Parts: sequence; structure tokens; C-alpha cells
Amino acid sequence: MPNGRTVPVIIDCDTGVDDALALLFAVRHPGIDLRAVTCVAGNTDVDGVVRNTLTVLERAGAPDIPVARGAQRPLVEQVRTARHVHGADGMGDLGLPAPTRAPADVDAVTLLRREILAAPRPVTLIPTAPLTNIALLLRTHPEVTRNIERIVFMGGAVATGNATPVAEFNVWHDPEAAAVLLTAGVPITMYGLDVFQRVVVPGADVRRLRASTEPGARLAGDLLAHRPSGPDPDGTDGDDPGGGLGDAGAVCAVADPAGISTRLLPVEVSLAPGPSRGQTIVDRRPRPGESEIHEGAREQALVDVALDVDVARYVRLWLTAVEGDRP
Ligand code: BDR
Ligand code: CA
Repeated sequence: MPNGRTVPVIIDCDTGVDDALALLFAVRHPGIDLRAVTCVAGNTDVDGVVRNTLTVLERAGAPDIPVARGAQRPLVEQVRTARHVHGADGMGDLGLPAPTRAPADVDAVTLLRREILAAPRPVTLIPTAPLTNIALLLRTHPEVTRNIERIVFMGGAVATGNATPVAEFNVWHDPEAAAVLLTAGVPITMYGLDVFQRVVVPGADVRRLRASTEPGARLAGDLLAHRPSGPDPDGTDGDDPGGGLGDAGAVCAVADPAGISTRLLPVEVSLAPGPSRGQTIVDRRPRPGESEIHEGAREQALVDVALDVDVARYVRLWLTAVEGDRP
């Protein structure tokens, strides 16, 4: 953890199988001080997200962290859930019990403002979902940026999308909100699909987690089993596919920033209707092109873009925190 001090963190999520993996890690990593969790429509409807988030925190043994309900739809678009990936309940249809407590009696934007300004040190904000709540926060209470250290968001892609050939789901679901985020005026790290898809827990570890008698670790295993790793870029999965950590990798990037390689690059969200909508256009050119020479440079946000990740390091980091010491 940076400077050996715990990092005050707030997660904004759409729990979501891999958001749950992110929450389990954040609650259990000793370097992270998870101060609040806010919910937004995305993988499932916002009420489902609230329910799933409360359930995960209870299973993780962290029932006191404040949770608030946020935006029920994007700024401009309609809700377009990802239940085909995350199950009808948004959490893998594992038959989990309903939570025993209710969310906070304030909305997500109010809770975000309150917790950010009340934190003893500047907060790291980790959105792992469409950026609707964050855009509403920045437009309603811009003063919060004075106590935000940085924003590390899961979203976007340098190369290939998933919601469309070029757009990643979180940005595609609410492109206008993502554009607001990029101009927040605080340091931003983009943990995009390029690294997100690579961090996979091996099958043997998933099986061990599923057999655990500890409820949080067992839930982690069951969730990972719902996230088969897909095409195996390193050819190591064989017939024993593991489970992708997905959003949890963005929280690993806060606990252990040296595990990713980043470059500060101009990033822009395509807001145009049509096939490029929701694309994060990352300018990796070594020098200006004809467009800049003839028409002048446009103002663009500079973002620390994750281009590479130490997969084994993050898998170890995540397992150690979630599972604790193994016999
Ligand atoms: C993102 O979309 C959701 O399905 C995942 O939870 C992740 O945040 C990946 O595109
Ligand atoms: Ca998510």
C-alpha cells in the first residue's frame, strides 16, 4: 500500500458478480479503508444492485459499511442491463439470502459527498460501474474534488470493446457520464478491458475457495465459477478454466499500484450516435498528426491508462486478502 498507510476508499458499483469480487477484496485487504459503497444501475436494476451489495457485505463480515442507492438510469440512455452475463439477479443466481439491513436513508450522491468531505485523508474513488452517480456528484457538488486523491475507474478499452466492437460496457451504458468523469480535474487511472480481462484466478484456486467453510471465501469461489475466463491469451487454462477477477483488479490497482504499468495519455469518449458511441479513444501516437497540424490541438483529458498488468501478482494479492492464511 502506498506510504504504508491505509487508503480511504469509496466504491461505486453495479454489483454484479465481479463487483462482488471487488467488494470482498476491499473489505479484507488491510491497506484499504472502505468507507462507503454507492450503487448505480448497470449490470442489473439499481434496486437489485443495492440488494446484492448489502448481501455481499454481510457475507464478507462487513455489515456496517454505509450503502446508498443511486441513479436508476443513465443521464441520456435507457437502462440496458447485462443479466445475460451476471444472471437474472445480477449475482450469478446463487440463491443468496436477502440482506438483513436496509440501505442508508440518503441517496448515493449525498452519501458520496458526505463521506468524501468527512474522510481524514483524501479519498480514492473506485467506480466499477457506469459513471452516472459520479457525474451527478461532480456536477452537484464540485467541491468534493478537494478531498479526492484520485479516481481509479474500471471502464473503457484501448483496443477492443465488449458491449460493442469498440465500447466497453460501463462507458457505453452512460457515455455522457464518462465524459464528465474524464474532466473531473483530479488524477484519473483507467483500468480498462485491456487489463481487466487478463487477471484470471486458476481453476484449482477456484475449487479450493468453493470448498471453504468460511462464508466470504466460499462466496468468492462460487462467484468466480460464474466467470469462466473465456479465450485464454496465455494458453495456460487448458481444460480447467479459472475465473476472471474483473472489477476486483481495479481495487488491486489501488492496493498495489506497482502491479500495473500505466502511461499518461489523452483520452476522449465518443458521444456521437452510431457505431463508435461509448468508445474511449486513447491517443497513443508518438507525435501530432495532420489533424492537429492543420486544425490545432483540441483540449483533451490526460488519463493514466493501464496498459499492462502483472497477472500472477494480482491473483496472489487478491487470494491472500480474501482467503487469509491457508493451513
Ligand atoms: C464491466 O461491465 C460489467 O459487466 C462488469 O461488472 C464490469 O464492471 C466490464 O465491461
Ligand atoms: Ca461492474
